[in-house]
This record gives sequence, structure tokens and C-alpha cells, in this order.
Amino acid sequence: MPMHDERLSRREAIALGVTVAVAAATRGAIAAGTAAAADAVSGADAPAVITRRIPSSGEALPVVGLGTNNYSPTTPEERAARRAVVERLPQLGGRVIDTAPAYRQSESVLGELIAEIGNRERLFVATKVTAADGDRAGGIAMLEESFRRLRVSHVDLMQVHNLTGVDTLLPVLAEWKKEGRIGHLGITTSSARQYPEMLGHMRRHTLDFVQVDYSIANRGAAEEILPLAAERGIAVLINMPFGGRRDGNVFPRVAGKALPDWAADLDAQSWAQFFLKYVVSHPAVTCAISGMTKLAHLEDNFGAARGRLPDAALRRRMEEYWDRELAQGEDA
Ligand SMILES: NC(=O)c1ccc[n+]([C@@H]2O[C@H](COP(=O)([O-])OP(=O)(O)OC[C@H]3O[C@@H](n4cnc5c(N)ncnc54)[C@H](OP(=O)(O)O)[C@@H]3O)[C@@H](O)[C@H]2O)c1
Repeated sequence: MPMHDERLSRREAIALGVTVAVAAATRGAIAAGTAAAADAVSGADAPAVITRRIPSSGEALPVVGLGTNNYSPTTPEERAARRAVVERLPQLGGRVIDTAPAYRQSESVLGELIAEIGNRERLFVATKVTAADGDRAGGIAMLEESFRRLRVSHVDLMQVHNLTGVDTLLPVLAEWKKEGRIGHLGITTSSARQYPEMLGHMRRHTLDFVQVDYSIANRGAAEEILPLAAERGIAVLINMPFGGRRDGNVFPRVAGKALPDWAADLDAQSWAQFFLKYVVSHPAVTCAISGMTKLAHLEDNFGAARGRLPDAALRRRMEEYWDRELAQGEDA
């Protein structure tokens, strides 16, 4: 499999689902070849962003999306900050929101905010389900509860969370997809311990999506999961693109450090854009869902969905820089 968009022919790029939304105003040249199948995101308040197609449905998704495992606000101010993010996301050209019943109040809070704002039609809503010990009835009850909490009649992507009950739930999800209640189905993990099991499911089942952890600091998914997804035509959501919210988070590694000069070659103006552009430039990646509870972080991160992406050589340089200069450093 070619490892980077810039190496792809037009036909290969389309087969991999690579599209790039290009507006006349897009600053700088889009790397040669990535504009193989260009289409424009329309609307005065929707600046052009890079998109990738879901192989199974052909639907195009912006490469940056919103993760909401920290969407259980405890004060009006925290709620207002999250509302501002959900409102601004589609205005910036974003669509994907990922949640789960396991994220405390996240589904209910999103349901309330989306209804208040009235932007459901502009979003691609993804949530999750589990069936511990093969409990099919419990899984179906959880699905119904997600629809109620999210206040939606259609979920764009339903994922089996952390592979809990894949064999039980996939037939149910296939049925719900046929009935039009869900648009796509998939499975998730965020642990290398589950990669062998995930690879087995990817080989055995027909999946629209997988969701997996991947960041410049955590590149294990690129060994087998991402290549197999490309080979099997499975779209990929990336969770924890900044290494997660806790110990593995990459930002402490760069606190007080300036970007290298060559970050300009990939149109990265912040460390967040540097890290996200690394993730979304992998040709198998459809969308990176970063956790964001602050509007400033959303605005910053959407800078990674525009302009040039690193080619294979630049990706290697980013990895070497991370390994040599940043990974070993003392925490700030
Ligand atoms: N097994 C699974 O299915 C699984 C597991 C883990 C995660 N997920 C999904 O993946 C999503 C992403 O993972 P995550 O949220 O744990 O980790 P993450 O996206 O790697 O990191 C999120 C953290 O980075 C901060 N951040 C975001 N943009 C920033 C910026 N521009 N500058 C500085 N800091 C920034 C966030 O801060 P603020 O919140 O303050 O904005 C938050 O603390 C989750 O929300 C969830 O939807 C799924």
C-alpha cells in the first residue's frame, strides 16, 4: 500500500477515499496529488477543509472531528463552553462528533445542546454500544437509550465500544442499518492489547469503520490496523490523537518550546496543528476526533484540517524529531 497521498495516482487516491476540499482562497499550494478528487465545502461560514471519503458509503468527512468523553459539565460556565464548541464545529467546516454511553452525561448533554442549537443536520453523530457477556437484549436497550438521550432519529455511526460484544451486536447493527436507523457500523479500541482481536474482527466482518488510538507518540496502530483498514476499505476514526487527556497527553512535552522552522512546510502554526497533521496525513485515516471542551482549542485544531499535509519524508522527519527532541524530555 502506498504510504502517502502524494505518492498516489488519481485512481489510487479515489480508491483510498482521499478527497481534498479546495477553495480558491486556500492558502499555499495543496501538495501535488492530494487534490486528485477535489470538491468544495459550500456555505459562507464553512471554510474549506480537507475531507476523506468513507469507503463503504462514499460520504465525505472533514479530517478533524470532536471527541466528547469530557462532556459532563458541572457549572453553567462549563456547559456554555461546550455549547460554544458544538455550535462552532460545523461553522468551521467540521461534522463528526463522537460520544458514548460510557462518557457519563455526554450523550444527554450533546442531545440537549444539538436540539438547542438546531444543527443536527450539519453533524455526523457517532456513538457506541456494548453487550457484556453476549447480552443482546441489554445491548438493544442501550441502543434505544442512546437515541433517546441524543434526541435523534438517526445515528450516523454506531460502534461496538472496546470490542465488548462484537459478535452479538454486529448482526443487530446490520439490521438497524438496513432499517435506516443507523448509517454506518464499526468497532473501537484504544488499547494495543486489543489489536490482535481487532484485526481478527476486521478480517471476519464487514465493517464501515474502525476507531483506534494513534498519535505521534503512540504509533502502534500504523503497523497492522491502519494498513488492513486501507486494504479492506474500512474508514478510520482516530481517538486520542494528542495521546489522551491524562498521562500520555503530548502537550506537556512541548510546553515552552518553539515549533521547528520546517513546521511551516506543513502549514502548522501551533503544536496542536503539528500533532494533528501528523495523524491525519496517514493515508488510511478518515478523521481524527480530538477531545475539545474549549473554543480556542477547536479553532486551533481546525487549522490542521487546512493547508498542506506532510508527505512521507516530512512524516518521517516529524517522527524523528518527536523521538529525539520531545519524547525523552522531562515533563514540564
Ligand atoms: N476506546 C474508545 O472508543 C475511546 C477511547 C478514548 C477516547 N475515545 C474518543 O476519542 C476522543 C479523543 O480522545 P481524548 O479526548 O481522550 O484525547 P485527546 O483528543 O488526545 O486529548 C484531549 C485533550 O487535549 C486537549 N486539547 C485539545 N486541543 C488542544 C489544543 N489545541 N491545545 C492544547 N490542548 C488541547 C483537550 O483539552 P480541552 O478539553 O481543555 O479542550 C483535552 O484535555 C474522546 O473524546 C472520545 O470521543 C474513544
